[in-house]
Amino acid sequence: MWKIQLFKLNYDSREHDAVSSVIKSGWLTMGDKIIAFESAFSTFLGGSSHCIAVSNGTAALHMAILAAGVGPGDEVIIPALTFVADANVVKMVGATPILADSSSLDDWNISAKSIERCISPRTKAVIAVHYAGFPCEMPAISNLCKQHGLTLIEDVAHAPGASFAGRSCGDWGDISCFSFFSNKNLSIGEGGMVATRDDAVAQRLRYLRSHGMTTLTLDRHKGRAITYDVAEPGLNYRMDEMRAALGLVQLDKLPAGNQRRAELSMRYRTRLMGSVISMPFNDQSSDSYSAYHILPVLLPETVDRTVVIEAMKAKGIQTSIHYPPFWSFTAYKEQFSPGTCPVTTEICKRELTLPLFPTMTDDEVDYVVSSLLECLK
Ligand SMILES: Cc1ncc(COP(=O)(O)O)c(C=O)c1O
Repeated sequence: MWKIQLFKLNYDSREHDAVSSVIKSGWLTMGDKIIAFESAFSTFLGGSSHCIAVSNGTAALHMAILAAGVGPGDEVIIPALTFVADANVVKMVGATPILADSSSLDDWNISAKSIERCISPRTKAVIAVHYAGFPCEMPAISNLCKQHGLTLIEDVAHAPGASFAGRSCGDWGDISCFSFFSNKNLSIGEGGMVATRDDAVAQRLRYLRSHGMTTLTLDRHKGRAITYDVAEPGLNYRMDEMRAALGLVQLDKLPAGNQRRAELSMRYRTRLMGSVISMPFNDQSSDSYSAYHILPVLLPETVDRTVVIEAMKAKGIQTSIHYPPFWSFTAYKEQFSPGTCPVTTEICKRELTLPLFPTMTDDEVDYVVSSLLECLK
């Protein structure tokens, strides 16, 4: 249907072989592939984090919120510009999400300043999202959280492979959460990872992942254990072996994939320069290295975005919106209003996401840009 879709999987025979080798092995969940994927991911983050593979990014966030001890009456500061999962997991434990505004029309991330304005005596944690793969100003945010005794949760769904000041995104937070959903930089269908440097928190996360049980089915299969204790109530947020095997292959492809994303983003930037379209994160510090997850642009104020989306569709180009604001959702419109977050309000009205994926060609970027500029005429 699409000439150029928003995202395309970067899969080949390696992913096929990885999955069929798991099927041939006869062991489908929580086995050697999970251990290998968690260990490789820990190395990828810098080597000092425990990594716990889970069923999706939302499960990772839910576990992080539970492990941070967030509960009824608490507040958690989240970016106003993010995917709804960040607010949903806070609501799920009976706490209240508080929206921090984006820094500016160039830097769409939350900043230490925007977080500070939202801190109250009830604040328990902060979720920092590296929007589109661009790192938040982590040293300042991390210091602020330390100063106020707040748990810093990094939502790294957009940013595996990104770094700030030479330190990986996902290595700054007390707890960090990754998503490996189909359209992510590392795609396995459904999957996620929670990371922490704290041994006790890691143990808590392992219990939360698997019913609070003290041994795994694999331990009993291998004769290492006969039965199990339940240390605390937990959930079933486990990842299976097929997905872990896919994760190992995709992790191997990630640096080259991110590099290609960077080149394509640069091409978009050059082609759009001087036009009526602006791209955010133009003014990044040299310390910041993005994972270039998506390609967001800001349309001129006077343009009807729906008309542009339809016109692009007619040219065979898929576009998207990251994100509709919280106050547009039935579940959140009572609680949130645009007035408190003027920058995010403006972004949400004018943002359009263009196609970006590692196997995209230069010619495809040029076609998207010329089509968009034509649609705006
Ligand atoms: C910023 C952000 N946080 C959390 C999630 C949730 O991840 P998942 O879809 O794996 O549950 C996503 C995924 O779409 C996301 O983009």
